[in-house]
Amino acid sequence: MHDKRWVILSVGFIALATASCTDLYPDADVMPTRADGAAFFSENCTSCHGVDGRGGGPASSGLSVAPTDLTTLSAKNGGTFPQARALSYIYGDPGNSHLARVMPEFGGEMAEDLVPVEIEGVLTPTPRELAGLLFFLEGIQQ
Ligand code: HEC
Repeated sequence: MHDKRWVILSVGFIALATASCTDLYPDADVMPTRADGAAFFSENCTSCHGVDGRGGGPASSGLSVAPTDLTTLSAKNGGTFPQARALSYIYGDPGNSHLARVMPEFGGEMAEDLVPVEIEGVLTPTPRELAGLLFFLEGIQQ
C-alpha cells in the first residue's frame, strides 16, 4: 500500500522533472546531509524511536505498538535498506489517513522543497527533510 503510493508519487514527480528541471529543484545546489537528517530525527522522532533509533524513546512505553528498531531495517530486509518502504511510511499516505496507525505522518510538512535523490535506482524528486532522513537512517544500520 505505502510502497505503491511512493511509486505513484515518483512517477508523477519524474514527469514533472522532465518538464521543468530548474523549477522543480530551486535549492538543489545545497543538498541535505546525514547531519540534517539527524537534526530532523532528533526533533521529531526520538520521543518514540529513541536517540539511538532502537525504539526505546520516552513515549514508547505508552504506545499500543512498539516503535520499530530503525537500526535493523536493512538486516531485516536481506541486507538492503528498504528505501521506498521506509520513506513512504515516514511520509504517510494521505489517501488512507482514516486507517489506524500509531506513528504520525510527516509528509504534510515536507512537500514544498524537493531535491533529486536516487531511490532504488531511480532519480526521484524527494522532500528535503525526507532525503536527510534517508541518509541518516542508512547511516545507522547495523
Ligand atoms: C508517536 C511515536 C512515533 C514517532 C514520533 C515516530 N515514529 Fe516511527 N514508528 C512508530 C511506530 C509505533 C512504528 C511501528 C508501525 C506503526 O504502528 O506505526 C513506527 C515505524 C517506523 C518506520 C517503519 C519501519 C518499517 O518497518 O518499514 C520508520 C521508517 C519510522 N518509524 C521512522 C520514523 C521517523 C524517521 C520518525 C520521525 C520523522 C518517526 N518514525 C517518528 C512510532 C513513532
